[in-house]
Amino acid sequence: MDSNYQDRIPNNVGLGANRALQRALEHWQPEFLNWWHGLGPSDFNASSVYLRTAISVDTKGWATFDYVKMPDYRWGIFLAQEENDRRVGFGDHFGQPVWQQVPGEHRSTLRRLIVTQGDTEPASVEQQRLLGQRCPSMYDLRNLFQVNVEEGRHLWAMVYLLHSYFGRDGRDEAEELLERQSGNRDKPRILEAFNEPIDNWLDFFMFTMFTDRDGKSQLMSLSESSLDPLARTTKFMLTEEAHHMFVGETGIARILERTCQLMQEAGYSEDVRKIGGIDLPTIQKHLNQWFSLSLDLHGGEVSSNAASYFANGLKGRAKEDTFDEHIVKDACYHMEFFEDGRATTKDVLMRNAMNEVLRDWYVGDCQAGVIRWNRILEQHGMSDRLRLPDRKFHRGIGMYSGFHFDPNGVPLSAEEWDKRKHDWLPSQADTEYLLSIMDKPVYEPGKFANYIAPPRRGINQQPIDFEYVRTEQ
Ligand SMILES: [Fe+2]
Ligand SMILES: [Fe+2]
Repeated sequence: MDSNYQDRIPNNVGLGANRALQRALEHWQPEFLNWWHGLGPSDFNASSVYLRTAISVDTKGWATFDYVKMPDYRWGIFLAQEENDRRVGFGDHFGQPVWQQVPGEHRSTLRRLIVTQGDTEPASVEQQRLLGQRCPSMYDLRNLFQVNVEEGRHLWAMVYLLHSYFGRDGRDEAEELLERQSGNRDKPRILEAFNEPIDNWLDFFMFTMFTDRDGKSQLMSLSESSLDPLARTTKFMLTEEAHHMFVGETGIARILERTCQLMQEAGYSEDVRKIGGIDLPTIQKHLNQWFSLSLDLHGGEVSSNAASYFANGLKGRAKEDTFDEHIVKDACYHMEFFEDGRATTKDVLMRNAMNEVLRDWYVGDCQAGVIRWNRILEQHGMSDRLRLPDRKFHRGIGMYSGFHFDPNGVPLSAEEWDKRKHDWLPSQADTEYLLSIMDKPVYEPGKFANYIAPPRRGINQQPIDFEYVRTEQ
């Protein structure tokens, strides 16, 4: 390995002193680049992008901005600072010292958790790989690529854990992370939401709002883990995840802003599609789609796996330290069930309801975002509001998955559902409309597609008309 290795892979894990890890990563790195060239945003490999790179975890180093060609991005390996005398924060081992190595009895479960998280990172890059060709502005193009390279870094973070702590099996898993492919029939990505293509920017913004927020849920619960390197890795990933959700939330906010403007200009009774905007029902349908898919990512409502992750200290609750009690042996969760066509409630042991506890946190976090979006509608004097559908709506995992519900949670027959589902979820015609208004990319600095308002401010205090991407095409 060349002497610049430390520079090329910024890290705070003492990479230079760990020969075995160096060798493993040396082997994996060209495969990663190969994957990036093949399945990443490869049309823009020659462009210089104004990107943030983490070169350390302190406040000065974690966000360094400069022009970079994406294949030259310095994907680094960073763990949040070690906490002095950190203790297991929940479950049966509460209060014992955290683990610096993987306990044998939890090895395969932890590996599975890390692989499942790791698999989502390259998957989303694959899903979004062609979006650049339809970008609404150079500012948005840059944000897309920032998200893409950071998902690449998150993959590196998970691969670092696999290589460092899981031996031969870990190395095999790291290779398979580059072999599965979003939407591929034979070797799909592990989780369903990561096999759906994202070919328009409304989907992209909803994905970064809702599905990256599921990432936040999962990272928050893993950052409580008793396996300290996993906790510290995921904690640092959360700082980057925040930007991804910013991209989604502000992206939708700017579309709403523009839709309101267009409606004001054209008169409220006018079909906003006639003047090239995105109508509120279409926005609501995409919200329904990505919120429900992301609810599924939290797993089944009653789960013995979730109970054992908690009992064994592998995966905690989001913000575990804000709870009064961390062992949670006898506590119950009052859960809604759907039986014989009717909703009832029953008490379930809290440990078995941990997926639902995390989902509750997630729904609250999403709800706060929707309230912020609705303020824009309010400010423009509109009476319409966006809202989250009921959590029974359009579920593919868990106890509601075999049934149909409308967005209010009212049960429907399969026939009624088939008749009405495109009132609530995007139809082929909706997608075609979106693609028609996004048919050409906007590459001119400071210019924005007709359906979206400019952002309030630029990136890293640069002006909005800054040349965020220098395309050489
Ligand atoms: Fe990520
Ligand atoms: Fe993300």
